[in-house]
Amino acid sequence: MSEIHPRFLWWNGRQMQWEEATVHVTELGWSTVGAVFEGIRAYWNAETGEAYVFRLREHLERLLRSMRLVRLARRWSIGELSEAILQLLRANECCEDTYIQPVAYRAAGPKTLSGFSEESGLYITTRPMPSHLLSGKVVRAKVSSWRRISDDVMPPRVKNISNYRNGQLAAMEAVLDGYDQAILLNTEGKVAEAPGACIMLVRDGKLITPDITQSILESITRDALLRLAREELGLTIEERPVDRTELYIAEEVFLCGTAAEITVVGEIDHYVIGDGKPGAVTRALERLYHDIVRGIDPRRPDWRTPVGLAQLAMARRTSG
Ligand SMILES: Cc1ncc(COP(=O)(O)O)c(C=O)c1O
Repeated sequence: MSEIHPRFLWWNGRQMQWEEATVHVTELGWSTVGAVFEGIRAYWNAETGEAYVFRLREHLERLLRSMRLVRLARRWSIGELSEAILQLLRANECCEDTYIQPVAYRAAGPKTLSGFSEESGLYITTRPMPSHLLSGKVVRAKVSSWRRISDDVMPPRVKNISNYRNGQLAAMEAVLDGYDQAILLNTEGKVAEAPGACIMLVRDGKLITPDITQSILESITRDALLRLAREELGLTIEERPVDRTELYIAEEVFLCGTAAEITVVGEIDHYVIGDGKPGAVTRALERLYHDIVRGIDPRRPDWRTPVGLAQLAMARRTSG
């Protein structure tokens, strides 16, 4: 498989050429059973010539929580990992919307389920991921026949790679059945989330979303949107168990997540949501979120970490 890749990645404390970071073929297979990861975005702002990493600290805090939960030892601090990410983005000259993926894995011990070592390895990659915010994208979804894993099976609140087999089964079923997206119910039959995104709905002007004990990831986008909705748009928020049929009669439904950003759901199980187009609340939130993540709107500066590309370009201009 040939894929365009960046020049550099970071692996176990060192930035190196992409081709240099290899492991033996026998590491394939079970090696990711105990791995956890993060998905982070950096948004490019052409006006300032700078990219901003969205909520970097919160993502790294969640990575450390994920590692702790699956018993992987912590080898690098949040400060060290932040610096590694920013340096990598500069080295790869990421002057575009970029996805950053740190992956932490079990680096030693026997390859058996009971074989046990907390020794961890960690690598970080970057790749382009253009934003679809404000593009008017609308998807069709189905409620999956697969249920979301529950906290007494595998911890959905963290980004454990093994969790994604559950989401993948639901996503594949949805695509084979002619839909774009799956929505999973939890084992109680309440709405949980999509395979890679949380879900929100609008009813009577209120923004409603499953609370974090409903078998969902503790999503950073979800948290950001709830704060913006409450504090900037003055919306009433309800975090609570959500019935499946509430989806069908909602005025608006959208998915949210780092990769999903805000994705409008226009139809679920052949029920058209609202008029099938982005609704007023979703559009207001999307505009605000877009302007904040790109640094067009100066509010929430602590959510944006500048990569340092503008400074790099200036240094190059003055030296050249
Ligand atoms: C299962 C799942 N739910 C929700 C989300 C949204 O989380 P976040 O906003 O932190 O990206 C993701 C990842 O994007 C996910 O993989």
